[in-house]
Amino acid sequence: TWSNVPQGPPDAILGITEAYKADSFSEKINLGVGAYRDDKGKPYVLPSVRTAEEKVISSQMDKEYAGITGVPAFTKAAAVLAYGADSAVIKEDRVAITQSISGTGALRIGGAFLERFYPHGKSIYIPTPSWANHKAVFGDSGLEVKQYKYYNKDTIGLDFDGMVADLKAAPNKSIILLHACAHNPTGIDPTPEQWQQISQVVKEKEHYPFFDMAYQGFASGDTDRDAYPVRLFIEQGHGLILSQSFAKNMGLYGERVGAFSIACESTEEKKRLDSQIKILVRPLYSNPPVHGARIASTILNDPALNKQWLGEVKGMADRIIEMRALLKKNLEELGSKQNWDHITNQIGMFAYTGLKAEQMDKLAKEHSVYATKDGRISVAGITSGNVKRLAESIFKITG
Ligand code: LMR
Repeated sequence: TWSNVPQGPPDAILGITEAYKADSFSEKINLGVGAYRDDKGKPYVLPSVRTAEEKVISSQMDKEYAGITGVPAFTKAAAVLAYGADSAVIKEDRVAITQSISGTGALRIGGAFLERFYPHGKSIYIPTPSWANHKAVFGDSGLEVKQYKYYNKDTIGLDFDGMVADLKAAPNKSIILLHACAHNPTGIDPTPEQWQQISQVVKEKEHYPFFDMAYQGFASGDTDRDAYPVRLFIEQGHGLILSQSFAKNMGLYGERVGAFSIACESTEEKKRLDSQIKILVRPLYSNPPVHGARIASTILNDPALNKQWLGEVKGMADRIIEMRALLKKNLEELGSKQNWDHITNQIGMFAYTGLKAEQMDKLAKEHSVYATKDGRISVAGITSGNVKRLAESIFKITG
């Protein structure tokens, strides 16, 4: 029956883990998927998550279905985390929100919602480059995926003028996907002043902003600071869509905890949108899993645990910053003639090294260092134990 189905390629990001696992070298290094590791290279369960999970288990809750939009105590707190307790949209109760299957699920609900209801066209503009899955998520949702300039390979920095020019050149009322913080894969974010200009252009062009915030807390170590662009856009009167993930900032990767929300103009609009979000979600997966959302909700709603968690987020962000500095230092000490300033200038989980696909191939084949072909490395996979060998490997292929 299925002879028509061709063999597909491995996933650009998750496929790297498969290649890494198949390597028998004991000092192999996996810098592929963006998943935080401690300084021993081990997956890290946040102590606040452990405590919250114990609370959830000891309270002996039942295992009934959540409502279609998930655990209300979770979505309420997730909205406050993103928009801020003082935000007009929170105070005026005009955020339509649902729990989602992490960030990817939120993006997919967004894609489906836009495909069904956006009245001004079916195109979405994503940055060049963007997270490898964006194109597939929105394409599979039935949107046409277009791109705007973002990365300048000569400066290994933001192509701000190119970005603004492309936003201006796009037809009015286009949907614009923006990474709220810790841009994936480049680790390059606009400055606050640049965000203000972007907001201005988006306003002038009457574009519709769609924020993907998968790394709140990972850019600066501060969840409020990282939410700046979203809060700025709200202050400036934009309607917007927001996708949130708790995979990284709570380390809840496999629990799939996220939220999809729309900042509406009024409570009346919110009610209509909420009703349609339910109608969209029900045939997709009925309702979301409860365990992870209960953990996240416990952390967000318990002041002491919340404070502890924010400290742990900062701890993860700080370790990554330290590894950036160490990698750069090691490369310089080896006598590398290249400039590696971008490794410490970039922020979030990833460094966009500027290495070419052939060099990434060599890194994997000759040095058992695994990362994506676009030259992105997950700095969260670097440790004080492997950074020297990593620097030597990069030095050998770059000189
Ligand atoms: C990544 O970019 O590595 C992460 O967002 C994980 C994923 O699902 O791709």
